Amino acid sequence: MPQTIGFDVYGTLVDPVDMGSHLEALIGDRGKEFGQLWHDKKVEYAFRRGLMEQYENFGVCTHQALRYCMMVFNIDLSEKAQQQLLAEFSNLEAFSDVIPGLISLRKQGHTLAAFSNGPEVAVRALMTTSGILSQLDDVISVDDIKTFKPSPLVYKHLMRKTKSDIDSCWMVSSNPWDVIGAKAAGMKAAWIQRDATKIFDPWDIKPDIVVTDLLELAEQFNT
Ligand code: LAC
Repeated sequence: MPQTIGFDVYGTLVDPVDMGSHLEALIGDRGKEFGQLWHDKKVEYAFRRGLMEQYENFGVCTHQALRYCMMVFNIDLSEKAQQQLLAEFSNLEAFSDVIPGLISLRKQGHTLAAFSNGPEVAVRALMTTSGILSQLDDVISVDDIKTFKPSPLVYKHLMRKTKSDIDSCWMVSSNPWDVIGAKAAGMKAAWIQRDATKIFDPWDIKPDIVVTDLLELAEQFNT
């Protein structure tokens, strides 16, 4: 049965660790540490803004998280240098399994959409430069409804926009909190465990499928 599949973007389709090289150029061997804190903090800011009902788009969360990290690491970047770093988020590379995996899923007749906390314009630009856009049927953003994952409202928005229902709509994400959020909203969900050391939160909500990449996901959908 053809399914509708929403793909998380950062960490699932594109590699945010790519930012590491830009950060290393700025702050040397603490670049990775900085990148991790930046990622975690922007996600935290989005969670908090969602709960507080004080929505500002994900670009704002990302910029404010950058400024937080600059304070933690005690580095001073000009506004221009900050904007240059932020612009690199439209330039991240697709993981090598992503395009062949999407091609295979599409051949099986599934409907594929990027579904992200990022604003649609930013996600579309990123999907274009990474070469992923042509394999997608749609790009859907939480920005349409002004709240963030993992609110159940955003997963319902994905189903509404793709005209799918709870029995035929999947969320695919490398973020355990995104998988748990989709499951809590009643959807099916696959966890992409790209890194064998990554831990899934020990809650009573589990993914329906765990795979290492999109090629393995396509195989699972084909069986
Ligand atoms: C996304 C990020 C948070 O929603 O991974 O694309």
